[in-house]
Amino acid sequence: MFMEGDKRPRWGEARLEEARFREAERRDIPALVALESATFEFHCIDRRHFLRLLESQSVYCLVLESNEGLLGYALVFLRRGKSRARLYSIAIDPRLRGQGAGTLLLRKLMLELAHFGQRRLSLEVRTADEAARRFYDRLGFRPLDSLPGYYDDGADAMRLVTELPERVRASEQAVAS
Ligand SMILES: CC(C)(COP(=O)(O)OP(=O)(O)OC[C@H]1O[C@@H](n2cnc3c(N)ncnc32)[C@H](O)[C@@H]1OP(=O)(O)O)[C@@H](O)C(=O)NCCC(=O)NCCS
Repeated sequence: MFMEGDKRPRWGEARLEEARFREAERRDIPALVALESATFEFHCIDRRHFLRLLESQSVYCLVLESNEGLLGYALVFLRRGKSRARLYSIAIDPRLRGQGAGTLLLRKLMLELAHFGQRRLSLEVRTADEAARRFYDRLGFRPLDSLPGYYDDGADAMRLVTELPERVRASEQAVAS
């Protein structure tokens, strides 16, 4: 029975403790689609779109999973010959939001991208989405451009950008030389 003062973990805490990162695979598509439809009302990435994305050489998709399944994902486009990657989509299971999982996922992604030799990461966010903007601001993203009427519904966006960790690139260079 639940007693007042109990320190039982919330839904996400237990799962976050056992969570790990890995690159997305085709077998993740049903869980990725479920996460999308639980997250976005419009323009969810569907099964076929995920399949195309995961097969593309210019896409990197990192997932966060626990023993019970996918907790979140982040998908980026890497452009040939360019050192700026673009975050295309990020989502955390709605039951786990606000508990640090998104921060962990994005930090891990930024380290991975730096490891691949990328220097910057950009993304678009709805100008009106203050919660998402706070999330990115805390992770070091700063405004790069305004994109009036960027979304299909006419809403404005901002393009944000952050520098990827220098230290990783430097240690990579030391290893490579
Ligand atoms: C944005 C998102 C990936 C952040 O992951 P998270 O695990 O909730 O984030 P963290 O716990 O590490 O950080 C919490 C911060 O995220 C931001 N945030 C954005 N959307 C949020 C949401 N739906 N619930 C909780 N926090 C949210 C807030 O700034 C929050 O900080 P605050 O509590 O001071 O307001 C996640 O909330 C999500 O999947 N949201 C819906 C999809 C989305 O908005 N994607 C980004 C579109 S650009």
